Amino acid sequence: MQRHLKARGSSLVVDGVGKTFGHGADEHRVIEDLSLRVDPGELVCVVGPSGAGKTTLLRCLSGLARPTSGTISYGEQELTKPHADIAVVFQDYRGSLLPWMKVRDNVAFPLEGMGVKRAARRERADECLAAVGLPGVGDKYPWQLSGGMQQRVAIARGLAYEAPVLLMDEPFGSVDAQSRFDLEDLTLSLRERLGITVVVVTHDIDEAVYLGDRVIVLGGSPTTVVDNLTIDLGDDRDQLRTRAHARFADLRTHVLTLIRGDRSAAGSADTPARDEDTPGQAAAVTESAVRR
Ligand SMILES: Nc1ncnc2c1ncn2[C@@H]1O[C@H](COP(=O)(O)OP(=O)(O)O)[C@@H](O)[C@H]1O
Ligand SMILES: [Mg+2]
Repeated sequence: MQRHLKARGSSLVVDGVGKTFGHGADEHRVIEDLSLRVDPGELVCVVGPSGAGKTTLLRCLSGLARPTSGTISYGEQELTKPHADIAVVFQDYRGSLLPWMKVRDNVAFPLEGMGVKRAARRERADECLAAVGLPGVGDKYPWQLSGGMQQRVAIARGLAYEAPVLLMDEPFGSVDAQSRFDLEDLTLSLRERLGITVVVVTHDIDEAVYLGDRVIVLGGSPTTVVDNLTIDLGDDRDQLRTRAHARFADLRTHVLTLIRGDRSAAGSADTPARDEDTPGQAAAVTESAVRR
């Protein structure tokens, strides 16, 4: 379902994707038969344990990597290479910002390859820095900023593409707790203001529940979708109120239980609303994810 009238872009559809690394005796099947769908304007969190293949999935969603089996499509098109509509914020700002380049140039850097003229690049970089709450830092170097501010710069660079879809890989993993809350709220407000579609990959269950319209839970070996939860906490999320809500606790407990592999307990009377409620049957829930 399209969440916002002003939402731009197309749906991302992952259909039966598998990903294998290595060959012969070294073959390692990381992802198997994974299906999900993200519609324009949605904020979807993908949560799973470390090593589950979240980064691998995100790389496939960005077109930077190809699945071994199954398909990923964006709108009518199969995604076989990076698409101008899809921007990525990578896992760690420390590895993605160039220390010898001023902040403005870091943000504007990808635009050069897109043929945007110098003055327009500069203007767009400054707009994006303002959008992430960092007006006036364009002439500083990344290392002159705090970790939280550097992560904002990395988000500004993602926004500079003006892509309708923003993919984020563990975007707030390296910052302190207060900056993390601020960055989560920034993400919510950017989605609202810009009508973008956001996919956040995280191992942090509380963060996934706090941010998501939906949370897609990954599990199993190889990894697949074990649940696709609608987060019925309303649109108006607040770090103190939302996290203190009994429903928030129910949802996080449900996700944590799934991730620990205790499916029977997860299918109790407290099971949160799903698109199609089939308590405790991971396979059936996965199918409901496919049909969305
Ligand atoms: N390029 C690669 N070559 C071989 N194995 C890889 C490669 N990328 C990821 N893997 C393996 O795939 C698994 C999932 O990795 P990753 O997607 O980074 O997980 P996550 O992001 O959930 O922590 C890990 O076992 C990792 O070692
Ligand atoms: Mg990762």
